[in-house]
Amino acid sequence: RFMTAEPFRIKMVERLKKTTKEQRQQWLKEARYNAFQIKAENVYIDCITDSGTSAMSSEQWSALMLGDESYAGSKSFYKLEASVQDIFGMPYVQPTHQGRAADYIMAKLYAKEGKFAIGNMHFDTFRGNAEVLGALAVDYVVDNGKDTASQPHPFKGNIDITKIERLIEEKGPEQVSVVIITVTCNNNGGQPVSMKNIREVSNLAKSHNIPVVIDAARLSENAYFIQQREEGYKNKSIKEITREMFSYCETATMSSKKDGLVNIGGLFVTRNEEILKHAQQLAIVHEGFITYGGLAGRDLEALAVGLQEGVDEQYLEYRINQAKYLGDRLMESGVPIIEPTGGHGVYVDGRRFFPHIPQSEFPSQRLVVALYEEAGVRAVELGACAFGAKDPITGKDIYPDVEAMRIALSRRVYTNSHMDVIANALGEIYRNRDQYKGMKLVYEGPITSLRHFTAGFELL
Ligand code: F0G
Repeated sequence: RFMTAEPFRIKMVERLKKTTKEQRQQWLKEARYNAFQIKAENVYIDCITDSGTSAMSSEQWSALMLGDESYAGSKSFYKLEASVQDIFGMPYVQPTHQGRAADYIMAKLYAKEGKFAIGNMHFDTFRGNAEVLGALAVDYVVDNGKDTASQPHPFKGNIDITKIERLIEEKGPEQVSVVIITVTCNNNGGQPVSMKNIREVSNLAKSHNIPVVIDAARLSENAYFIQQREEGYKNKSIKEITREMFSYCETATMSSKKDGLVNIGGLFVTRNEEILKHAQQLAIVHEGFITYGGLAGRDLEALAVGLQEGVDEQYLEYRINQAKYLGDRLMESGVPIIEPTGGHGVYVDGRRFFPHIPQSEFPSQRLVVALYEEAGVRAVELGACAFGAKDPITGKDIYPDVEAMRIALSRRVYTNSHMDVIANALGEIYRNRDQYKGMKLVYEGPITSLRHFTAGFELL
């Protein structure tokens, strides 16, 4: 069934601790049933994120030694710049300490008070930045991208163009300050955006003088899906595809902790010289001088190499197939997931998994707790807690369309035997699903959109 094994061998290992169910129950209680509050050393397989958790290659580790730590004009910056230009096809590169710093600079330059910032589904850190600046961040992903039970569609990350047209018609184009396309779309399953959609959104935006930005954290996974699924791209290389993707935008931001295959770093990339000058000023104030942007020279070296390894087709085939392997195994046991399986993990549908637990009792969070309790596997809730909101007038809870548990897969870290552990445990929980009850939120911090990091729960 699984035709290709990992296109690497393991040179160094990191020991994992196996623990008992009793221990995990105790740690869950101490963490108030919040996975973010569990100590990482007490986790057997950590799927809370795919961010900053990649295993670096021997080439990257040796590149670290070449790091030029000069404050200004570091040799390592120029290597990174060339690597980024090669993949993005854009001329100007400003490194940042991680993705949200690039988001911040981008929001400062493109989000405007009282104006709309349209996206497929904005990632939290841009949304937070936009809201602080008083911009109106709206999600216009296609309808079947919000409906986790809907028919599999090859590009569930696409933007619904008719929704943009309607907004422009109703409010006027000058009320829209930017369109941001997140590739792949993290919030609904790591679902890709097609080239056709990027091109059409861009043409529409350009015709109204609205700038387009791409949030490119998972750019090579998106390019691989285009190559595999979209007509006309089968014989194109991943780099040809990434360059075409970015040819339709003015600026891109990237959390390089994902497809950059490094543990820290971000990028702000643009073709607009004026925008670059402003970005550099913001970087100097908040990040560091323009040729290091809050990173060490060695980090720049590792990223220059990692970006190129991330667009390698053999690597991408392994990467996407590992997620698919887990998704297929779960579906065989009847576990309801967002279909098709996305790029950086598998998203289990909490509502269909526990149909007797209402969203007000956090079904996906209950599943996160059950999975850790049974198998020491840590996933993350992307549902009523993380994406829930409060009506600003009535204070009533608003529940999100997507109610899921994300099993995020770190790059080049876990084997398919680890995937089997996850699939077996979830299959078992699913067979016993009737025995689970919901949860009660007993503590939340002052900012609702960030409450999942520190929330406290009790089991009902
Ligand atoms: N954009 C997207 C699409 C992301 O998924 C993330 C981070 C960021 C921006 C912010 O980048 O973490 O480097 O500051 N996503 C992580 C996740 C945290 O778990 O999905 P950062």
